[in-house]
Amino acid sequence: MLLEIKNVKASYGLVPAIHEANFFAEHGEVVGILGHNGMGKTTLLKTIMGFVKQNSGEINFDGETINKLSVHQRASKGIGLVPQGREIFPNLTVEQNMSVGVAAQKGDINGRIEEALEMFPRLKRLIDRRGGDLSGGEQQLLALARCLCRKPKLMLLDEPTEGIQPSIIDEIAETLSKLSKKGEITIVLVEQNLDFITNLSKRVYAISNGILKDEIPPKSLKDTNAISEYMGFS
Ligand SMILES: Nc1ncnc2c1ncn2[C@@H]1O[C@H](COP(=O)(O)OP(=O)(O)O)[C@@H](O)[C@H]1O
Ligand SMILES: [Mg+2]
Repeated sequence: MLLEIKNVKASYGLVPAIHEANFFAEHGEVVGILGHNGMGKTTLLKTIMGFVKQNSGEINFDGETINKLSVHQRASKGIGLVPQGREIFPNLTVEQNMSVGVAAQKGDINGRIEEALEMFPRLKRLIDRRGGDLSGGEQQLLALARCLCRKPKLMLLDEPTEGIQPSIIDEIAETLSKLSKKGEITIVLVEQNLDFITNLSKRVYAISNGILKDEIPPKSLKDTNAISEYMGFS
């Protein structure tokens, strides 16, 4: 098991946002977490990354408990976050955006960028384009590529399909699927897009009002009524 979240709670000041989270991800797995707006998806990923402090519970990663580690330390251990809204630097080129991802690391930065770009032929063609001039989908590809430059063991993806046209959503799904088949990376994907999630993940959890505990049985994933129930809408 690469990641294990046990009874994790987190809050903003006195206001709880994650009441209870329990889930795990095996090495090489894509795990999906499905939830509507405001249910705690971003908070959960930020808690795993260390941006939001947990109040209790345990986060185990790659054989150790990381509860007390800083964001920077978690990143060095191999956790990468692709944030909601992508957070591309609009005035930097594609290549410069990618260098920012590896700037703090030792070794052959250009080599890492080139290696990451192998998975993203579309970005290769846009290498000198300003981040701000890319489409939403292209920016999402760039956010993924930037994260991959650091060679994370675990990638946390926050709503990669949000606000993106269907044609490029398919390209993002294909890229992630190829990446996953290489077997070097584990992905935790939070989404509202059911098709995207079921296309990529064998195991899917539901998060509702800050509570994540139920894995949705595979056959319920084809049943809209069952899904609504798991997502807390009935
Ligand atoms: N920085 C913040 N300060 C206070 N409350 C927040 C903050 N960010 C999110 N929340 C609240 O935490 C809950 C979960 O939000 P969030 O994790 O962003 O949900 P999701 O990503 O599923 O849309 C919501 O009630 C939201 O209003
Ligand atoms: Mg969110």
